[in-house]
Amino acid sequence: MTAPWWERGVIYQVYPRSYADANGDGVGDLPGLIAHLDHLEWLGVDAVWLSPTFPSPNADWGYDCADYMDVHPDFGTLADMDELIVEAGRRDIRVLLDLVPSHTSDAHPWFRDPARRDWYVRRDPKPDGSPPNNWRAIFGGPAWTLDGESGQYYLHTFLPQQPDLDWWNEDVRAAFDDILRFWFDRGVAGFRVDVAHALVKDRLLRDNPPARRNESPHWARVGQWPRYNLGLPEAVDVHRRWRRVTGEYDPAPLLLGETYVLELDELMQYVVPDGLQLCMNLVFLHTPFVAAELAATVARTEALLPAGAVPVWHASSHDDPRFATRWCDGDEDATRCALVALLSLRGAALLYQGDEIGLETVPVPPERVRDVAGRDPCRTPMVWRDEEGAGFTVPGVEPWLPIGDRSRNVAAQRDDPDSILALTRDLIALRRRRRLLNGAYEPVAAPPGVWAFRREGGAFVALNLGREPARLDGVSGVIVLGTDRTRDGEPLAGMLELRPREAVVASAP
Ligand code: GLC
Repeated sequence: MTAPWWERGVIYQVYPRSYADANGDGVGDLPGLIAHLDHLEWLGVDAVWLSPTFPSPNADWGYDCADYMDVHPDFGTLADMDELIVEAGRRDIRVLLDLVPSHTSDAHPWFRDPARRDWYVRRDPKPDGSPPNNWRAIFGGPAWTLDGESGQYYLHTFLPQQPDLDWWNEDVRAAFDDILRFWFDRGVAGFRVDVAHALVKDRLLRDNPPARRNESPHWARVGQWPRYNLGLPEAVDVHRRWRRVTGEYDPAPLLLGETYVLELDELMQYVVPDGLQLCMNLVFLHTPFVAAELAATVARTEALLPAGAVPVWHASSHDDPRFATRWCDGDEDATRCALVALLSLRGAALLYQGDEIGLETVPVPPERVRDVAGRDPCRTPMVWRDEEGAGFTVPGVEPWLPIGDRSRNVAAQRDDPDSILALTRDLIALRRRRRLLNGAYEPVAAPPGVWAFRREGGAFVALNLGREPARLDGVSGVIVLGTDRTRDGEPLAGMLELRPREAVVASAP
């Protein structure tokens, strides 16, 4: 049996609103994405994951979904989606959508349907009129809002405009089976599953206990341990149910879970052979860009993963500052090292649009802020060319978010074999075409500041993330690809010297 594509796949996250605007309204759309599929084919990615494309009032920019079986008019039509799937398929690129099952928009017809009241988590106030329990919303305030008409509170883990579905309700489960099949029948190759770790809430709605000593910064500030509303293992039953639905198709579509937990032990409760095939590792994303720390996170992830499970690595997304800024502070050499790491580890790699050119987080002035949670800086438009509108939109049109520095752009980097873009493409090609990056992850002892590992039976990878030059002894073979491209092809006779912020992928002798 050949391994499924995603076991070594590169999945490229598109934030559709910021990718490419074909109709000149300042907002990216599906025809714009279709027009740029050649870039993705050239880059060599296996799949695109589109942040939500469904009709939505955009209180949380699509993560408040008002209809799971249609396309937001800002992005186009169902016919455009069909065309995207066909055009991507022609280029051997799969299309994954972003399923948002934990909550709907309050504008979803289900929310006001008297026959579906129990599809949501609703409870009477306490005798003193206060909310049913002490849970806090992730975007601030209580997780409960009083619904004036009914006199009951409804639960929302995020904004009040994002009421939580009640995943203990069998009808909700059945409705989502149909949503999955609707898209799989149209040729969608899988879903990224939003908030996959928090679908199911405590049945008894017990109060959360006070924050623990090692609570994440967010929950430490809130002062509680989200013990009963986030990260419950019962979500796995839902994942298993969906996995059975994927089994009706050949090849089985992919379920990539947004398992946003900050402890690896906790992550492992979602890594089961018959649930989500891939679980995002946010612990890695939040690890400081320090060799010893990254090496430790990767080693621990590999050690905890059960046999047969596939790790997932990513460092940027629409939720967190881009790694070129957060990890690398705009230093291009560091950005190159980060890409070498992401693309040479075992497992699936997720790239966020713009990672391939080293796009940085863009400061957004207060009058242009669109997001409730301060995430605009990582959602600004893709930079295709150095011209007004950056090739994202037509000159003279104000894009929905400001465009950052246009000097790092796709067109310029495509013409430059020494660019970050060329490096990204060559790394992806290396994953695909040579057997160097197939085997198990094996850590290798290295001097301070250096992270080194082998891929069993294949490459030796060394990254000097420190500020001092480093020397590794006992290394032989040939540099297949280095962040300093002039070293490609250099033979290594027992010793490797690395400048600060330099990385190489070498073939073993
Ligand atoms: C996920 C999404 C994020 C969204 C939240 C609520 O974490 O990635 O963008 O705000 O879910 O749906």
